Amino acid sequence: MITKYTHGKPINTEAVVVPFSPNKLASFPFSHTLENDSFRFSFKMEPDDIVYGLGEAPRGINKRGWIYESYCSDDPFHTETKRSLYAAHNFIMLSGTDRCFGIFVDFPARIKWDIGYTLQDTTEITVEGVDFDIYIITGKLPRDIVREFRRAIGKSYLPPKWAFGFQQSRWSYHNAEAVDRVIDRHDAAGIPLDCVYLDIDYMERYKDFTVNEEAFPDFANYVRAKREQGIHLIPIIDAGVKKEKGYSVYEEGMEHGYFCRRADGSCFEGGVWPGICAFPDFLDPGVRNWFGAKYQGLIDAGIDGFWNDMNEPAIFYSVEGIEKALDKAASLKGENLDLGKFFNLKDTFAGLSNSQDDYSAIYHTIDGKLVNHQRVHNIYGANMTKAAGEYFEKTFGEGKLLMFSRASYIGAHRSSGIWFGDNHSWWSHILLDLKMLPAANMCGFLYCGADLGGFNENATRDLVLRFLALGVFTPLMRNHSALGTRDQEGYSFENSEDFRDIIQVRYRLIPYLYDTFVKARENDDLIFRPLSLDYPADPIARECETQLMLGDECMIAPVYEQNVSGRTVYLPEDMTFVKLSGERIESQPLSKGLHYISAALNEVPLFIKKGKTIPLCKPAMRTEDLKFDEVEYI
Ligand code: GLC
Repeated sequence: MITKYTHGKPINTEAVVVPFSPNKLASFPFSHTLENDSFRFSFKMEPDDIVYGLGEAPRGINKRGWIYESYCSDDPFHTETKRSLYAAHNFIMLSGTDRCFGIFVDFPARIKWDIGYTLQDTTEITVEGVDFDIYIITGKLPRDIVREFRRAIGKSYLPPKWAFGFQQSRWSYHNAEAVDRVIDRHDAAGIPLDCVYLDIDYMERYKDFTVNEEAFPDFANYVRAKREQGIHLIPIIDAGVKKEKGYSVYEEGMEHGYFCRRADGSCFEGGVWPGICAFPDFLDPGVRNWFGAKYQGLIDAGIDGFWNDMNEPAIFYSVEGIEKALDKAASLKGENLDLGKFFNLKDTFAGLSNSQDDYSAIYHTIDGKLVNHQRVHNIYGANMTKAAGEYFEKTFGEGKLLMFSRASYIGAHRSSGIWFGDNHSWWSHILLDLKMLPAANMCGFLYCGADLGGFNENATRDLVLRFLALGVFTPLMRNHSALGTRDQEGYSFENSEDFRDIIQVRYRLIPYLYDTFVKARENDDLIFRPLSLDYPADPIARECETQLMLGDECMIAPVYEQNVSGRTVYLPEDMTFVKLSGERIESQPLSKGLHYISAALNEVPLFIKKGKTIPLCKPAMRTEDLKFDEVEYI
């Protein structure tokens, strides 16, 4: 059952699609305090209660023992002491021995979730505003609660089938020759591939919806030629629009007043990749229509997938901010910079990016009124993606274009997937990816995944292989890395057959994975579940943070440490342990309990529940060549 509580005049985030009649706070079931500018509520937790949720967020599957903040943040250091990542997924769910409930706070500004951080046995949620809707979802089992919540927020985005193929990315493949090399080298190594990414350098000086003609001459022809090779090119689109005379997107936006403003009504300007940019006011439906239709130019050139980036929004500096900082630096010229002065100057420059002062200086127009950005910060990126998603659905129908975003809010799950942003080539980030999967699913984001191999810093061969062996199961299976890092395409390392073996397993599993995805979408269900959801009475399963249930048939348990040939796995019931590598399958029945299992770098471990079967097709170099009806079963 879902009960809605409303206070004040909430901004319509469009997260919930089913109407619920609002109740007054007087009947709110948790102890609470309403102040002038915030609302706080709390509940006690029993020692073995689990708190799930928050979607894309730091730390564990069980969120207890930390304080989180819903505040979409462009932060490339996903360490365990962070409170926020790029998304605001305001759903949590408590599961105890004799009670379970979910909470969705539909509120687009900052929320603090103190889940046993200040007091071990207490969750305290602080909503930084007084205009909000809160939904309390009750049910017998956590999975029922998720399904009920998901029904209320509407069906998840459906990507095209080819988006389940393997995707190779890097910042950047700078020109057509570089892209060709990626395809040719995958083909030569027998590594299946469906997509190659075009990061910011495909654009003309980082201007959205332009193509650098020198790097990609006759772009439409080039895209067509790649499609003939079975490859989809996926360009990036950033939130900021370059300020430049003669650049039509900027000029149209200025002419119609489509950009975010300062308090005095002038256009807010901030620096991102292209230098000074204006930021489309995506909260205005007219601006969404305008921006959404801009994707058509690239679609006309044959493009059928996009990723939306920098939409928290990321702002390297504002014009005002950088001027102040430069004035400060100039005033210190020739001075003896002691400890205080030097670090103050350093902090001034470091603090320029994504600064609270800048976010507070931005205004949106909602229903004809200026609204400060801080009040709607968490739905800015979601509305950028909605602009594209709504346009795609209206123009092409469901399941035709690939679209995923960095920033998100619940509701955007209907128009796009997400990726988990700029992670690191760290072993710990394999598990971070795993832990975010069920949490993202709870919030409706089914098409998701992390940058496999890790984005920042240099990756090692074994890390990329182990990361990919988890990525075999994530709907978005993309290897992506940052500018200046070591090449991490499978063919860049010695013995590329190992990469072929792992990625072929993905292609063999696509019929199963696609089917599992579609079922989860139809039934408002999870693809990935913590073991505790399926085995709530099993104390070991309840604490398991390194394995996941997948669909109704499988369990996954990736190897996540360096220099090991396997790992310990907990089987909550008898299962068949399957090792998949290229076309090779080895299987071994194992009984309930703890086991040490070995998996070489070219092997994908998988566990199949007793009495369940999964289909496997023959591998192919592209998803379009897979034969979904010629399968064998394990
Ligand atoms: C951001 C994105 C990353 C991309 C880079 C350059 O850091 O998160 O994926 O490669 O920008 O566009």
